[in-house]
Parts: sequence; structure tokens; C-alpha cells
Amino acid sequence: SRTVSRNEDGVATVGGLDVKRLAEEFGTPAYFLDEDDFRARCRAWREAFGPDADVFYAGKAFLSRAVVRWLTEEGLNLDVCSAGELATALDAGMPAERIALHGNNKSAEEISRAVEAGVGRIVVDSFQEIVRVAHTAQRAGKRQRVQIRVTVGVEAHTHEFIATAHEDQKFGLPLAGGQAAEAVRRALKLDGLELIGIHSHIGSQIFDTSGFEVAAHRVVGLLREIRDEHGVELPEIDLGGGLGIAYTPDDDPREPQEIATALRAIVERECAAAGLAVPRLSVEPGRAIVGPTAFTLYEVGTVKELPGLRTYVSVDGGMSDNIRTALYDADYSVALVSRTSTADPMLSRVVGKHCESGDIVVRDAFLPADVAPGDLLAVPATGAYCRSMASNYNHALRPPVVVVKDGTARVIVRRETEEDLLRLDVG
Ligand code: LLP
Repeated sequence: SRTVSRNEDGVATVGGLDVKRLAEEFGTPAYFLDEDDFRARCRAWREAFGPDADVFYAGKAFLSRAVVRWLTEEGLNLDVCSAGELATALDAGMPAERIALHGNNKSAEEISRAVEAGVGRIVVDSFQEIVRVAHTAQRAGKRQRVQIRVTVGVEAHTHEFIATAHEDQKFGLPLAGGQAAEAVRRALKLDGLELIGIHSHIGSQIFDTSGFEVAAHRVVGLLREIRDEHGVELPEIDLGGGLGIAYTPDDDPREPQEIATALRAIVERECAAAGLAVPRLSVEPGRAIVGPTAFTLYEVGTVKELPGLRTYVSVDGGMSDNIRTALYDADYSVALVSRTSTADPMLSRVVGKHCESGDIVVRDAFLPADVAPGDLLAVPATGAYCRSMASNYNHALRPPVVVVKDGTARVIVRRETEEDLLRLDVG
């Protein structure tokens, strides 16, 4: 987080609060999130895209009632992809018309709750779903605004599991071969639907704008085909999320302004060439908003030096609070934050306490050679896809999310307890 510095004893402070005191008060592991940073990132996206576009925060990155309130206040919309996320959004007061529902296999229950609530859009993802949403809306006496999710055939340069615009995968309907155009044909015929646009999401943790530009070019191409075939100009396009963040100093992320300028330029140019009015643009950043705003604080429990290999530094969490290293081979950095050290750096691997050897938090890190039990380590940039993908593996208790603002800290998601775990165990 931007606000980490050191006090005269070498203890890191975040927003003026000393991490040792934070660890005493809230325990470890815990996620500490900087509210001002979160809000500043929301504003940067809003300002970059301006009043003719909508910014939908992707709730899957991290969602809680407090987050929903911040988004509502900062003028962002919200992308949800399950009944649980929808319930959180509505409970915390996000107006339904600012919510979009996503998913490749939405349940009948999810569709009907979204329609009943009056969500601003449902992004339909299959031929079956076009019919399901239309019927649900008709039964409710409504016309549901929908976008059709398409795959544009872009190879995003990211991990295979988080790339989503190539055609051989579960999301979207391919432009190539005409399934996307067929979906449009079907959607336009159904009374329960108001087809408002086309959606594309090319993947995640992407560092250059070219993939988005190709996607925009192809989506506008489809709008042109639709105009030529049906005589209608769809008023909206959504180009998804996926902007990368700096997990380590080697990463060089694009700013929201750069992506906004590039997208607007290409959409305007392509629309002018096709003789189309420029549609309203929307984007769905998740990681780029919340990722950099939080760090995880761990306490070191054991240190095991393997001569000639490396030193294993075990912390009190692991793959249950950050699965990304194990799942995507993600890179993180780590720092000793409870004191300064003049010891030489040593090649370390920061590992968790779970019962498997893939339980790695930071694969390769240089930590001071005197790192010892009781030291506190901070892993930055854990705001996205860490708490939201946390698990109870080995009956771990999922850590709290603590918000730091104006020199005070407050819990927004509390630590799980053994009672929480046992409450579900009704055998
Ligand atoms: N819109 C749609 C339709 C998406 O599927 C996603 C992410 C986003 C927006 C937001 O993408 P972002 O801006 O956060 O990259 N668990 C993985 C990431 C999975 C992303 C899934 N969809 C990770 O930890 O890297």
C-alpha cells in the first residue's frame, strides 16, 4: 500500500499505525486495506472514463458491505457473478440498476432474483440462458436489459487459467463461426429481452492495451453486422476488466487513463469508419482497483535453513488466505516489517502452514538472514482474489479484513472462529 513507512524503531507503519500494534490488536494473518487508496482508485477510473462511460467494479476480486458503500458513493457500478454477491450488493444499498449479473451458468434462482431486483443488465453467456432470462422476465412482466458475452479470439498474454478471449473455453459465444451473431438474432426476437449491447472480457493481469484494442475492433465489427442485418444499432459495449497491477517491482502496469484513452480512440475510429454512433462504453476492473490497496500481515513461526538450497520461512497462514501462488504460479514480494535488520539478504521461500508442499506464499524472496520466529512479514498487493478465494483448508479460520483510514483501524470482515466452522457441521 502507498501509505507504508517506518517509524524511528524501524517498525513499519501504515496510515500512521504501527504494524506490531495492529498485529496485537487484530491478530495474524490479517489483511489490512487502505480505504483512501481504494476510493482514489475508484475516482481515477471514473475520471479517466468520464460521464459517457460506466465503470463496473468486479466484485469477485473482493466484496463486502463496506466496499459496496464506497463504490456507491464514488459513482461506480458493480459486476456480480453469483446470488451471494448480488445479495451483498443489494444489502449494502447499491441501486439495482447499477448492478450487472455475470456467469456462464447462472441458476434459475440467480436469474429470477436479478430480474426481480431490477438489475441494470444481465450478461448472457449461452443460447440456453437467452431463453431462460427472456422467460423469467416475461413471467415477471418485465423486459430485462441484456448484453451478450462474446469471445473475440484474442490471445491475452497471461496465465492460461485467467485468459478468457480465445475460443476454446467455457465463457462467451465465439464471434468466429457466427454463434455470437446467432445469439443476437435470437435475443432480438424475444419480448422479455432488451438487447443493449455486446460484452467482451479478454482475461486478467494484462499489461498492454493491444489486446483490448483488438477486442474493441472486433466488437464494433459485430455492431456493424448487426446494423446491416437487423437495422438496429446496439447502444452499449463492455470491454471487461483485466488490467494488471504491480505484484513485484518488475511489473509495469498501465494507468486507467492510458486504457481509457486507447479504448475511446479505437471505438471512435472504428465507429466512424462503420458509420455507427459511438456506443456507451463500460469496463469492469476488479484487481486494478482493490489489488494494490491491501497487504497481508503474517507472523513467522519457524525458519528452516537447508544448506546449499534455500531457507524456508513458515508463516501462520498460506494457501488458505492466498491461493494465487499455488494456483497461477503468481509472484509476490515480501518484507520484514516489525524491525529493521542489517543482516545479509538470504534466498528464502515464504511458505504457509498447510499440509502440502505446494503451499507457497512467496516462491523466491530475499529476507534478512536473521529472520526469526515472532518477526512480522508483510506481503503487498493482496487486495484482489486473496480474501475472496480464501478457503478453510485444514480447517483454517479465514483472516479478517481490517480497514485503515485516518490513523484508525476497523474490522470490515471479521476473523472466522471455530464456532463459525462448527456451526456448519451438523452431523
Ligand atoms: N469482468 C469479467 C467478466 C470477469 O470475468 C473478470 C474476472 C473481471 C471483469 C475482472 O477482472 P480483473 O480486472 O480483476 O482482472 N482469480 C484470478 C482472476 C480471475 C478473474 C476472473 N474474472 C486471479 O487471482 O488472478
